[in-house]
Amino acid sequence: MKFLVSGGRRLQGKVRISGAKNAALVLIAASVMAADDVVLDNVPRIADVDTQLQIVASLGGRFVWEGENTVRISWPEGIETTTTPFQLAKKLRASNLFLGALLARTGKAEIPLPGGCNIGSRPMDLHLKGLQALGFEVKLEHGFIKAWAKKPTGNRVYLDFPSVGATENIMMAAAGIPEVTVIENAAKEPEIVNLASFLTALGVKVRGVGTDIIRIEGVKERGGARCGVIPDRIEAGTYMIAAGITGGEVTLENVIITHLHPVIAKLEEAGLKVDVGEDTLTVTPSGELKATDIKTLPYPGFPTDLQSPMMALLSVAKGTSTIVENVFENRFQVADELKRMGAQIKVKGQTAIVEGVEKLYGAQVKATDLRAGAALIIAALAAEGETEICQGELIARGYEKIEEKLSGLGAKVRVV
Ligand code: UD1
Repeated sequence: MKFLVSGGRRLQGKVRISGAKNAALVLIAASVMAADDVVLDNVPRIADVDTQLQIVASLGGRFVWEGENTVRISWPEGIETTTTPFQLAKKLRASNLFLGALLARTGKAEIPLPGGCNIGSRPMDLHLKGLQALGFEVKLEHGFIKAWAKKPTGNRVYLDFPSVGATENIMMAAAGIPEVTVIENAAKEPEIVNLASFLTALGVKVRGVGTDIIRIEGVKERGGARCGVIPDRIEAGTYMIAAGITGGEVTLENVIITHLHPVIAKLEEAGLKVDVGEDTLTVTPSGELKATDIKTLPYPGFPTDLQSPMMALLSVAKGTSTIVENVFENRFQVADELKRMGAQIKVKGQTAIVEGVEKLYGAQVKATDLRAGAALIIAALAAEGETEICQGELIARGYEKIEEKLSGLGAKVRVV
């Protein structure tokens, strides 16, 4: 799949922000824990959601779309297997979230090891350390993580780093243990708060979400639940940056402003004006784009998922910007692709120095990952001429109707 973008048009108009990919993925996995039906609203129709639902089906669950963005998940025959299939699970990292959910429901789980991972080291070490603290046995066999309940017990779990996935897996596993678990140095991302709302609806007692100490008192039997997916703050940030780079005026609908504070602050520093309403915001230009420095950090710091899109914007901002990537060390691959379009970027370790240029030019480029793909679309919107972005299926993993939404704002985008 390729995206063809003809640059040079100012984006203008309104765009509705979809449900958050990362929240939807964890809620779909968490549906495993429910004995009765789970109904999720505001679920984005994206490839990753389809894959996560196929994993549900492979475990014995049924799902049916009851509207454009509402899905009902049920388990009429209970859980038929506690192993997630490699062919599906390898497609997305969030498939590891079935680990905690299956442990809560059945006391055992087998999930394929995410690529390149050794047990006890990154990227699952914190998940496993937490599960072991809760009395689960964990071992690595034939490329799978196998975990089972020896003597599950509530406990205090300290995370060395506030990992989103580890916090979620541990919350779900703890939700099946009728004792108190306390997660310290927990992740504070809004998606964690969304998961907590879902667990609460299932009858689990959860306190402290949104802070770095989460207290969970699990229950043996859980019913069903209905829960809405929060708006996607990363999709929102992507459209804000796209508006900014084209000098456009765009209103975003269906956003939670507080989730966007770190992004709004940086875009204002870069020379944009952001007017906020109750659940809408409008981005307009205020003078020229200016260089600014970015450091990615766990929430409420600047999100690593918007680092690449921001790099595209800073490529054409006046002056020199410094970007420090503190969350994923290998997330500067997009720099080489932006350079094909005329950007001036030097990468050294976890730092990228971006010298703003007058103009970017259309080129043939490759989306190296989902957010890199979004960054290339952003760059292409401002570039002179046409840009051809290959591996566009990576973009479709995470952005609902991106072609339609951008076209609605006046962009010239085609998918072939
Ligand atoms: C989630 C998001 C992803 C986002 C990231 C950080 C989903 C589906 N994905 O990913 O979009 O970029 O949060 O906001 O929600 N780490 C370890 N050991 C572990 C776990 C993580 O060292 O056991 C490291 C990772 O390698 C990484 C950092 O911690 O360097 C952050 O990872 P984490 O917060 O776990 O991200 P994900 O949950 O995978």
